Amino acid sequence: MSLLYILLLSLFLSSFRADPLGNFCDENTNINTSSQTSANIDLLLAELVSKTSSTGYVATSSGREPDEVYGLAQCRGDVSSKDCSSCIQDAAKQIRQRCPSQSDARIWYDYCFLRYSKENFVGELDTSFGIFYFNVANVTDPQSFNKELGALMDKIRSEAVMPKQEGLGKGKTKLSPFVNLYALVQCTRDLSQIDCAQCLAIAVGNFPNFCDNKKGCRVLYSSCYVRYELYPFFFPIDSNNGTSFGKTVVIFHRFLIS
Ligand SMILES: *[C@@H]1O[C@H](CO)[C@@H](O)[C@H](O)[C@H]1NC(C)=O
Ligand SMILES: *[C@@H]1O[C@H](CO)[C@@H](O)[C@H](O)[C@H]1NC(C)=O
Ligand SMILES: *[C@@H]1O[C@H](CO)[C@@H](O)[C@H](O)[C@H]1NC(C)=O
Repeated sequence: MSLLYILLLSLFLSSFRADPLGNFCDENTNINTSSQTSANIDLLLAELVSKTSSTGYVATSSGREPDEVYGLAQCRGDVSSKDCSSCIQDAAKQIRQRCPSQSDARIWYDYCFLRYSKENFVGELDTSFGIFYFNVANVTDPQSFNKELGALMDKIRSEAVMPKQEGLGKGKTKLSPFVNLYALVQCTRDLSQIDCAQCLAIAVGNFPNFCDNKKGCRVLYSSCYVRYELYPFFFPIDSNNGTSFGKTVVIFHRFLIS
């Protein structure tokens, strides 16, 4: 059994831009904050901040063994380069505050994800740590909702693994004349097609555990992002508004590989 702990905390949904959805600092990777590794992290972050927004993705490394640090930053494929740039800037600043003395650190926002480590993780599928956000409100007709959600997820998951999509799939389904279901999935661009499909399958496979019959849910892994809502949330913003606001709850869920 690999479930280590589930930590529950509740938040009220609001629209402040700069707050991370969550972070992960591996306490087994403590470093001396005045070491060369720490200096390499700073160099790496400067490079990620300056380069990510032009294409929405950078994977790189900084320094030389034994102090080399690998890093990856990626924005959600639908956000503008301006939003991407400010998200990565926030991420680079916050990750150093939240994980000041760890060499394996990760931070999630709605618009971007940033990660670094002394281990070369680039190209490796990673679902070892996940963050789940869900709207506590339940759908009124779970059976038909889950059928439509499953069909939309299948469609955008197969879109996401097409090479020209760069890991992104998104779409909407009309549930009634007044209600649309919106969903978006994205893999980090370093993943192979098969690992991307695998990451998305693991995320969607966890819907029954964390998103069951919920009006909205997000699954955040280091290798992929999955979200659905009954209101428009991806760009270009749909003019047909939904009406599904409520308290959102977040679960940090860590799977330890032993
Ligand atoms: C961290 O590194 C600095 C510079 O090398 C050294 O002076 C300091 O004692 C180290 N601190 C720890 C806790 O190892
Ligand atoms: C949603 O359904 C779950 C499981 O049936 C229930 O525990 C929960 O209280 C419901 N939430 C609301 C807001 O009614
Ligand atoms: C969507 O929301 C905007 C602002 O809240 C409102 O002005 C507009 O009428 C809404 N559109 C629909 C189709 O409900």
